[in-house]
Amino acid sequence: MIFDPYSWTKKRISLLVNQVNTIKTDSLKTSPGQIWSIKKLLILDYYISSYVKIMRKQSKFDSWCYVDTHCGTGLIDFEGLDLKDEIFPGSPIIASLRNPEFPFTEYFMSDIDEESIKTLKQRLVNLKPSVGTKSYKPVVRTFEDTVSFVEGKKRFGRGFLIFVDPVGFKEMKWKLMEKLLRIETADIFFTFMTHVITRHRSNVETGNAYKKSMDSFYGNSDWSKYSEGDDLLELYIRQIHRFKKYVFVIPVFQMGQKKLYDIIIATNSNGGRNVINDGSKVMSVATTEMIRDACKVLANKSTEITKWFT
Ligand SMILES: C[S@@+](CC[C@H](N)C(=O)[O-])C[C@H]1O[C@@H](n2cnc3c(N)ncnc32)[C@H](O)[C@@H]1O
Repeated sequence: MIFDPYSWTKKRISLLVNQVNTIKTDSLKTSPGQIWSIKKLLILDYYISSYVKIMRKQSKFDSWCYVDTHCGTGLIDFEGLDLKDEIFPGSPIIASLRNPEFPFTEYFMSDIDEESIKTLKQRLVNLKPSVGTKSYKPVVRTFEDTVSFVEGKKRFGRGFLIFVDPVGFKEMKWKLMEKLLRIETADIFFTFMTHVITRHRSNVETGNAYKKSMDSFYGNSDWSKYSEGDDLLELYIRQIHRFKKYVFVIPVFQMGQKKLYDIIIATNSNGGRNVINDGSKVMSVATTEMIRDACKVLANKSTEITKWFT
């Protein structure tokens, strides 16, 4: 059957919104989101189903772990009046909703914020009929400690899908990213905050704090040769390529061509490369405008048939 990225995207948005309907009004904390955040969650959702299928077939793997280094509360909300009171599952819930059909051997979810972890734990209990009885056990932990934790879990026959979704980029020191990249069997998703990094770059002056955080983000000062967002992104990709055979970039736009960030996906596996080749079709139809329309229709805030959601 020919894969239709447009129907897949519509179907998944609708299903995911419905799957968290029972916890929509749980009055617990939500993670601040934006309509465009859904794009990275859809690509994660897409990747997980194919990733698990591939891992199950490979005799060299007996274990595959989902690692969410900045997991948040499990639900995102939306800024702006048009989708006020609407929610969407965040990355840890996206992964756990896939568990009944496409289970990971283990789930390692963590966040620095205590309340987010308490909330996520509660939500995973409340969603038991949909996420199954797996032991998810999210924990309070810094990104830095999670990197050491994952390094300790490395062993022959184990693969990792690591989702790294920070608020900004300051805790993302290159020395930590390099440790994750050195795990040969780890596929890594990373939200590269192109817009924020470029703005930060423009504030650099000799010896100031902006320079120091750029140095630690790149692990060197090569970034100082560039000032445009796409050049800074390219440099980061070149650095990742030293450790991973395939590196993909999916841009995320606020609207139209106004880019906010790029999702970087890095893998050594040919299977992972094929998944992304197909997944990029999904991502090219899942524009911010299309996702917004889909969410508004589902929230009964629009019955309008637009050019994106027909
Ligand atoms: C963009 S949100 C993550 C959203 C989540 N992936 C989702 O889809 O709902 C970033 C998270 O990083 C957490 N955070 C901030 N600094 C951190 C650190 N140094 N280590 C671990 N988590 C951190 C915040 O508490 C926040 O929940």
